[in-house]
Amino acid sequence: MSRQRRESTTPAQGRRGSRGRPARSVSAGAGGARLPDLSVRIAGLRLSTPVLLASGVAGYGEEMGEVVDLNRVGAIVTKTLTPEERAGNPPPRLFETPAGLMNNIGLANVGLEGFLAEVLPQLKRHRTRIVVSVGGFSLRDYEKVLASVDAAGGAHAFEINVSCPNVRAGGIHFGCSASRAARVVRALRPLTALPLLVKLTPNVTDIGSVAAACVSEGADGLTVANTYTALAVDLRTRRPRLGGVTGGLSGPAVKPLSLAKVWEVTSRVKAPVIACGGISTAEDALEYIVVGATAVQVGTACFRSFKTPELIVNGIIAYMKENSLSSLQELRGTMTLAPAE
Ligand SMILES: Cc1cc2nc3c(=O)[nH]c(=O)nc-3n(C[C@H](O)[C@H](O)[C@H](O)COP(=O)(O)O)c2cc1C
Repeated sequence: MSRQRRESTTPAQGRRGSRGRPARSVSAGAGGARLPDLSVRIAGLRLSTPVLLASGVAGYGEEMGEVVDLNRVGAIVTKTLTPEERAGNPPPRLFETPAGLMNNIGLANVGLEGFLAEVLPQLKRHRTRIVVSVGGFSLRDYEKVLASVDAAGGAHAFEINVSCPNVRAGGIHFGCSASRAARVVRALRPLTALPLLVKLTPNVTDIGSVAAACVSEGADGLTVANTYTALAVDLRTRRPRLGGVTGGLSGPAVKPLSLAKVWEVTSRVKAPVIACGGISTAEDALEYIVVGATAVQVGTACFRSFKTPELIVNGIIAYMKENSLSSLQELRGTMTLAPAE
């Protein structure tokens, strides 16, 4: 039994065209040889490749053009933005585990005023799509950030972060409950015509229900998932390794966990899913697509090298050629379950 899915069944598709500058297509190699079509559509927004930079790893994309070939990245997701500037949590804020990274940054960000005055004008110069990550501690915060950025222009989509595990109020508080997550989407949906993605927390027992609630209120897509709440202790001092005590675990350690979360969500809703969690190779990305993801985000692996997203794109192209795939649509959701005995 194989599961084939349509790219999107949300009402947003067709209703909205892709806005802003056209994304360049990765369709021809050196010497003009045809390459497989890597482009994907999320609620009418065309991304030239299915590989995005996850929120928090590229800041606001400053100087990104110098280290990443932005023509090969489908979009940059900005660091989550809150109405007020935030310094974040006390240090230490990062701790490396054998197969992952724990962070307790605590949504340190420039705040709305700084973003609109200094960051957004720079972002508009990039030749890639810009997805603005929206955060907050109350419904009003989310509304304020989204409406202000929407009015300023330059964003191509929004990713609503209802999943930050590193702040005491807001964030994950909304994402842990289907009804609270739905309330956020209900409030934000009328405020923008741009695609609205919701970034879900994996720290729930039934992520499918949260996803379904968001889609029923008009979310165009889901990013699955944010980090996993984790604790590391220094036995010598008997103190937590992170200043904020617990942190969010990311990196290779979480890939099998997030693959399962993506499976749960793609089994439940038809809206496009952007997979995120432990992706550091093309194989990782392709596994998520086989499980039903439309696109992927790369986070922690960028800390090893900002060439990683580009290498992943090259690896996807090689796989498509080897398997005579002309588009990723042919691969999406094709995981085959063993026949029942
Ligand atoms: C240092 C750091 C900062 C992050 N900041 C944010 C953030 O501001 N907003 C957000 O939605 N996710 C944030 N994340 C989570 C990532 O976007 C991603 O969901 C998570 O790390 C899992 O992907 P990965 O295993 O590829 O890193 C952050 C992750 C790291 C490691």
